[in-house]
Amino acid sequence: MDDIDRWLEDLAFADWTSGHIQALVPAFSVGETYFRRDAEAFDWLARHHIGPLLARRRREGQRYLRLWSAACCTGEEAYGLLFMIDELLGAERDHWAVELIATDINDIFLRHARQGLYGSRAFRGNDEAFRLRYFKGEGSRWRVRPTWLGRIRFTRFNLADGDQPSPMQGADLILCRNVLMYFSPARASIALKRLLASLDREGLLLLSSVEAGIATHAGLRGRLAGSNYALTHQSMVDAQVPVIDPFGGGRPVPLPGPAIPEAKPAAASVPVSWSRTAIAPRRATHAAAADIGPAALWAQAQRALHGGRADAAREALQAYLAGAGLSPAQQHQACLLMARSLADEQQVQPAWEWLCKALSLDTSASAYWLQALLEQQGGNSPAALRALQKAFYLEPDFILGYFLQARLLRAEGQVQASAKSLRVCRELLAGQAADSPVPHADGMSCAQLLRLCEQLQQESLA
Ligand SMILES: C[S@@+](CC[C@H](N)C(=O)[O-])C[C@H]1O[C@@H](n2cnc3c(N)ncnc32)[C@H](O)[C@@H]1O
Repeated sequence: MDDIDRWLEDLAFADWTSGHIQALVPAFSVGETYFRRDAEAFDWLARHHIGPLLARRRREGQRYLRLWSAACCTGEEAYGLLFMIDELLGAERDHWAVELIATDINDIFLRHARQGLYGSRAFRGNDEAFRLRYFKGEGSRWRVRPTWLGRIRFTRFNLADGDQPSPMQGADLILCRNVLMYFSPARASIALKRLLASLDREGLLLLSSVEAGIATHAGLRGRLAGSNYALTHQSMVDAQVPVIDPFGGGRPVPLPGPAIPEAKPAAASVPVSWSRTAIAPRRATHAAAADIGPAALWAQAQRALHGGRADAAREALQAYLAGAGLSPAQQHQACLLMARSLADEQQVQPAWEWLCKALSLDTSASAYWLQALLEQQGGNSPAALRALQKAFYLEPDFILGYFLQARLLRAEGQVQASAKSLRVCRELLAGQAADSPVPHADGMSCAQLLRLCEQLQQESLA
């Protein structure tokens, strides 16, 4: 391609084929793994899940096991599981039907896994006895011994693709560790619930401990399993109980409301360069900041804004910004609020200036959203679309952003891409209560936005 920007833009709005995705996957997948990662979790599984399950099946004369290593990377996790099962079955192993599948999105990793050939990095923390028992030296590397090679079915599966049927039903155990942490909270919740639906009634889904917050965000209750986190069907039942997300996961909250330290303001914390601009805090507001704490000033600004007193709100915000002890994120929010209130009054130039200040301090989907609106107002659709892309990067479920994207693309004559944005917007709306407000939409309900989507779609068809 001669024009890389154009190519990237086309890609961004195209309906991607699996060929597109596969070409890009290696650049984005993190291949960090090793044998018996979180060894205590494997020991916990042997003692508390697989061991008792084998005993029960033995009693019932049902000698089968179904296991799935989801996001198996180069196979270390799956082989580790196979070794463990064989240890537990001992001499009985030939009388059991053990189905072990291992999936990943990355074909290169899967090819590596099938070969079963590993360098020293794969053996971190494992002793020589482990290596000698299960592997045979091959040059400077080690290959899985023939007893275990070829017993795992490695196959491609994208955990984020809701249309692909699950590769295993009635699984006794699914390991899905260190991958959902790369997903958006919404997507991770959906993937988790699909994985739970693939479990047998008494099956168990294991996440890494850092992914426990994803489960609680999805409204699921699990328990610690060695150094990992285990979920079962019961997790969904227990989910009726309100849960607190210890990791503070969830959708980014629309503007604003940062936590404000109750620090007594001292000297101005606004960057020096600001004072040279027309929007530097005024003397009077410094005085106000000295008398009132930042939390009170923030509340004052909010009240004034809600009461339609934009000047008073901006005065309070300037005083707030003049105080000490604000984090860049808090300053970002305040500058953004200044920019929004100015934009609402069509004071475009000062709105831009405050927005630039906000973006020099921090980034947020709200800031890029405002940028998109200002660019749209200025007639620069390509710049508005670029700003929207940044907003989506920070907030993939930015419903209203997809609506604006659909409109902008349609105006640009990109009919197919516009239809795709509209589809995403409607899909996101389908997951919301009809009367719930659309974030960033000043009180518009999801049902109202859905009607606008339908209208836009009909206009496009006309
Ligand atoms: C950090 S590794 C974790 C490997 C192993 N589960 C572990 O805990 O050691 C993350 C793996 O997730 C895979 N992955 C990323 N996104 C995926 C997706 N949407 N579906 C399936 N696998 C994915 C990557 O290709 C990579 O192999």
